[in-house]
Amino acid sequence: MNNFDFYNPVKIIFGKGKIAELKKHIPTDAKILITFGGGSIKKNGVYDQVIAALDGFNVQEFGGIESNPHFETLMKAVEIVKSEKIDFLLAIGGGSVIDGTKFIAAASCYKGEDPWDIPAKHVPLESAINLGAVLTLAATGSEMNNGGVITKLATKEKLSFSSPILFPKFSILDPESTFSLPKRQIANGAADAFVHVIEQYLTYPVNSPVQDRFSEGLLVTLIEEGPKAYDSKTPNYDEYANIMWAATMALNGLIGVGVQNDWATHTIGHELTAFHGIDHAVTLAIVLPGLMTHLKDKRSVKLLQYAERVWHITEGSDEERIAMAIVKTESFFNRLGIKTRLGDHHVGQKTIDRIIKRFKDRQLPHIGMLPDIKIEDAEKILIDRL
Ligand code: NZQ
Ligand code: ZN
Repeated sequence: MNNFDFYNPVKIIFGKGKIAELKKHIPTDAKILITFGGGSIKKNGVYDQVIAALDGFNVQEFGGIESNPHFETLMKAVEIVKSEKIDFLLAIGGGSVIDGTKFIAAASCYKGEDPWDIPAKHVPLESAINLGAVLTLAATGSEMNNGGVITKLATKEKLSFSSPILFPKFSILDPESTFSLPKRQIANGAADAFVHVIEQYLTYPVNSPVQDRFSEGLLVTLIEEGPKAYDSKTPNYDEYANIMWAATMALNGLIGVGVQNDWATHTIGHELTAFHGIDHAVTLAIVLPGLMTHLKDKRSVKLLQYAERVWHITEGSDEERIAMAIVKTESFFNRLGIKTRLGDHHVGQKTIDRIIKRFKDRQLPHIGMLPDIKIEDAEKILIDRL
């Protein structure tokens, strides 16, 4: 196993009715800005629960954070934070709202000229406004990690940032807050969490049975619970709770320590969202089968382990078992109603050319964290997905 430091200070407050406990976790004299998205929290009662729980607190609000949150929108919130001297941000929503709020927290204290440099130049952050989260969509793990992804509308760039000072102080995870999710977002959540695990697991062996078996447990849980939640006519608390906790555990740092991480599927997927607005999870479901196929020889040891322990594939040659695991992976996404070909989303060679040019302009030595995917490999992976 590789050396590592592990640090995760996020307090998780999990379960039915837990939003009512908000008061305990925010200083009584805080000047709070609650941040949210396009209005789902006003329809499903989560907004009302938060407002009731914060009775007596000094609360202002900023709504309208879009999916794949825009830098341009978030900078409007930064102005409010500065002018109103806000000292606590409470994000209520899915990954986009939480990521956007992390950016607001950082940009509000940023002393440099252009806050876009936070993702574009990965500038180390010195300070940030404290933040907490009320999660309404199980998917990204943003509620328990220190990263975010934002999009600059003007240039169609989607870039990530992270900092040890951007962990939420706490996150409230009430599975009932996700009962109102449309099927598309249940599917997206299960698929995104699935690929988060894969990015930290399906690389090269370093003799890490703890991380591997945690990862396999999360993958099997998502395979079992995802389709059940997707199919059910009325939400089942336990299914939603299990998906929620699996998604949080998939990207809170735990399974990624001491092992080789990849993140190439995400790096390529972000470009598909940047150019075409395709849902984040859908981009991953498009790219991943191509990536697995392209790396089937180099990553064969982990692919065979994945085939056996996650999909129970034990018959056939190595090549056949790997091929079957890739088919099963793509079928899992399709089972959740996700279309996994670029053509299904009206994306063709022109976009591949734009993405590859962009990677070349950025002079990326490889895509993701490992040297086994160069720019030309990314091109082949995308062509395979046409
Ligand atoms: O905006 P509202 O009206 O709230 O509607 C949202 C949005 O339309 C809706 N929604 C959320 N909770 C709901 C609900 N609708 C009904 N009932 C509820 N309870 O769902 C839609 C999608 O929300 P969004 O937050 O965009 O989805 P998600 O959580 O999948 O987040 C996606 C973003 O997170 C980034 C992605 O790149 C993307 O920008 N990621 C963040 C990561 C991180 N911070 O660690 C890692 C991920 O890999 C990912 O990159
Ligand atoms: Zn993701």
